Amino acid sequence: MVFTMVYTGVRGAVGKLPSVLQTFQTRVLHVPSCSTGLRSKSSGASSPQERQRQLMGRGLPKQKPIAGVQQVVVVASGKGGVGKSTTAVNLALGLIANDPSKSVGLLDADIHGPSVPKLMNLKGNPELTETNRMIPLTNYGVPCMSMGFLVDEEAPIVWRGLMVMSALEKLLRQVEWGSLDYLVVDMPPGTGDVQLSISQNVPVTGAVIVSTPQDIALLDARRGAEMFRKVHVPVLGLVQNMSVFQCPNCQHQTHIFGSDGARKLADDMGVHFLGDIPLHLNIREMSDRGQPVVVSAPNSPEAEAYKKLAAAVLLRIQEVTV
Ligand SMILES: Nc1ncnc2c1ncn2[C@@H]1O[C@H](COP(=O)(O)OP(=O)(O)OP(=O)(O)O)[C@@H](O)[C@H]1O
Ligand SMILES: [Mg+2]
Ligand SMILES: [Zn+2]
Repeated sequence: MVFTMVYTGVRGAVGKLPSVLQTFQTRVLHVPSCSTGLRSKSSGASSPQERQRQLMGRGLPKQKPIAGVQQVVVVASGKGGVGKSTTAVNLALGLIANDPSKSVGLLDADIHGPSVPKLMNLKGNPELTETNRMIPLTNYGVPCMSMGFLVDEEAPIVWRGLMVMSALEKLLRQVEWGSLDYLVVDMPPGTGDVQLSISQNVPVTGAVIVSTPQDIALLDARRGAEMFRKVHVPVLGLVQNMSVFQCPNCQHQTHIFGSDGARKLADDMGVHFLGDIPLHLNIREMSDRGQPVVVSAPNSPEAEAYKKLAAAVLLRIQEVTV
C-alpha cells in the first residue's frame, strides 16, 4: 500500500507533540511504500515507539467501551453540510442545559474537516497525562477533542487509509475524558470507513440522523439510518434541520417545505422524529463566532428547539438502554 500524505504546519515543538503526531511524523520520515514495512528504520524493534506501533497494528479489541464514558451518541447524516456539527454542539450543550448535573463531552470524528474547534471557540494543543493520554480542551463546560487541536487550522490534511484510522483510534482511545454521562460524537459526512469503524469499535448507544428537506428528496438520510441499522447501532431518530424559516425580526415561522415532510420521512423509515431545528440567522452567526445559541441566547426559540431535541434524544436513550 502506498501512503499519500501531505502534512504540514504542526504547531509547537516536536518534543511537545502528542504521540499521535509523533507517530505520523515517524511514518512520514521513514514510511516505505509497502504496508508490511511500517517499522521505522532508525528505531530498533524493541524501542518503545516500535512496540507501540506494533500494538497499534494489531487493531483494537471489538466494542471496547471508552474509559469513563457511559453513553456514546453519534450525530450523523448521509450527506455533507446539513448541520451535523451545529446540531452535535448544541445537542451537547442542550443536554447540560436541561440537566446541569450531567457531564457531557464532545468528540469531533471529522478528521479531514474538523469543526468543533471553531464552533466551541477552542484552540491549542491538548496536554498529556503521565500515561500519554490527551486531556480534552474545555469550553462552556464541555470537554472537547478534535483533530483540529493537533494540526494547524490551515494545514491541508490529506490522509488516507491507515493514517485516518490510526488518528481515529487515538481520538477514541487515548483521550482522558474523566467521567462522562454522555459523549456526543460529531461524525464526518457520509457512510464510510470512519462511521463503520466507530460503530464496530465502540458500543454506540444510538445515532441521531440529521436531515434537511432536500435530503428527504434524495433519501440520503435513509441511507445513513440504514447503515447504522446494519451495524446494529440503534437509530435514536431523525432531526430535521433548516426546514422552518424563522424571521429574525418577528420570529414568524414559514414552513418552506411544508410542516410534515420530516415526520412523514421518519414514519416511512420507521424511525422516531426527534424535532425540527429552524433555519435561523442567529444559529449560523453565533456558530461562526464560536458561541453556540444554546449558551449565547439560551432563551431564544432556536435554543429552545435544541433543548427540546436534547430532551427527545434523552428519552430515546432511556428507551434503547432499558
Ligand atoms: N438551523 C440552522 N440555521 C442556520 N444555519 C445553520 C443551521 N444549521 C446549520 N447551519 C449552518 O450551515 C452550515 C453547515 O453546518 P454544519 O457545519 O453544522 O454542517 P455539517 O453537516 O456538519 O457539515 P459537514 O458535512 O461539512 O461536516 C454552517 O454554516 C452552519 O452555521
Ligand atoms: Mg461537520
Ligand atoms: Zn418577520
